[in-house]
Amino acid sequence: MYRATLAHPADLDGFRKAARTALALKIAPDALDWAVEGDGAALDLASPLPPMPDAPAPRVPRHYVELAELAICNRAPERLPLLYSLLVRLQASPRLLEDRSDPQVDAVSELAKAVSRDRHKMRAFVRFRETDDEGGKHYIAWFEPTHHILRLNIGFFIRRFAAQRWTILTPELSAHWDGQAIHWLPGATKDDAPTEDPVEAIWKTYYASTFNPARLKVKAMQAEMPKKYWRNLPEAELIPELIAQAEARTVDMIAGGTLAEVKAQALGCKLCPLHGPATQTVFGEGPTDARLMIVGEQPGDQEDLAGRPFVGPAGQLLDQCLAEAGIDRSRAYVTNAVKHFKFQLRGRRRIHESPNAAEIQACRWWLDQERALLKPGLVLMLGASAGRALLGRAVTVGRERGRPIKLPDGAAGFLTVHPSYLLRIENAATQRAERQRFVDELRAAAALAQEAR
Ligand code: URA
Repeated sequence: MYRATLAHPADLDGFRKAARTALALKIAPDALDWAVEGDGAALDLASPLPPMPDAPAPRVPRHYVELAELAICNRAPERLPLLYSLLVRLQASPRLLEDRSDPQVDAVSELAKAVSRDRHKMRAFVRFRETDDEGGKHYIAWFEPTHHILRLNIGFFIRRFAAQRWTILTPELSAHWDGQAIHWLPGATKDDAPTEDPVEAIWKTYYASTFNPARLKVKAMQAEMPKKYWRNLPEAELIPELIAQAEARTVDMIAGGTLAEVKAQALGCKLCPLHGPATQTVFGEGPTDARLMIVGEQPGDQEDLAGRPFVGPAGQLLDQCLAEAGIDRSRAYVTNAVKHFKFQLRGRRRIHESPNAAEIQACRWWLDQERALLKPGLVLMLGASAGRALLGRAVTVGRERGRPIKLPDGAAGFLTVHPSYLLRIENAATQRAERQRFVDELRAAAALAQEAR
């Protein structure tokens, strides 16, 4: 039996080095015990892994690295043996992660998802309180994360508050930013954080101006928003009033936000149940000054894994047709009506299922925000789900395609088929003709997008 010891619970670098060594020595997952320095749980019979600085790096898919970065921060002790076991199995089966019915793939994905949610909560609920010390203003926040996410999140807070001096205290670990560098400090208690808060008024104003009524539409989300966060939120007392106003608030409320901020919020979206089985939110992508906005239905299997819209078979066909129509995809903004993959598990395969009207409606919040921020010249709707999302009613694509359609708010729209429709046509001559018609419609839509204001 061997033992690998990490410097701290989320020590990805330590995990990487130990896993490389263990792989090079062909140590089976059940012959490797994982420990964290200071935990005192190490197995006495185990020998420490010998240092092997030259152990070769194993080949792993990018998705494994992304999963590992998150899953290692989970509090569950099984994260380390699970990650190592997956790594060993990936050497023989490089496509293992695509098999969502595999219990280990599923378990690691769930660990990663829980961390991702916790990371989002921390970003949303950390509240700094202003103090003064010999160095001037010093902002201090107390936060109790569920998982080991302080290191994972630190870049976010540095970018946000680069110019201030601040400290985030958590029970296990604290971080101090002196305006230049981060300093890691021991864990703290709530009593170490100031309770008086001269900046509460500022937080309240900020919160009222960025309040997201979408959250209110999901009772479950409110219920789930743990009270422990609310205790630290000065603006919590505003919530009843904001709830009352929520329905009257519209997308122009986010005028001060950026697309990146909206995307960050969408990554934690739970407005409908589709977030549960999906791997991640797949948000739109493209330049913020795009004249043409292309809206599909929802991410497919490959988009769900990659986190990007239209990268699978329908996306490849779309790319070819856009090119034939003389449209540079990188100049368009590409998104979907629904941002999570809806599927049914059949054996090992995830079979696409169309989103229903309620799911499309729930996701409208994000689409509206994308539109409000981008203000494209024209919104090109690919298929019936995109049509429903933007027109707010059922559409018959065959009847309404190929000509300009005004959206309910007056913006320019255009409906055509979804590329997956072309992929389903079996007759070669029909397929050729339909594909040409699609290319012609893309060209027409792009011309209108350029003409529009
Ligand atoms: N189909 C869609 O509608 N969107 C995607 O992103 C991929 C497939």
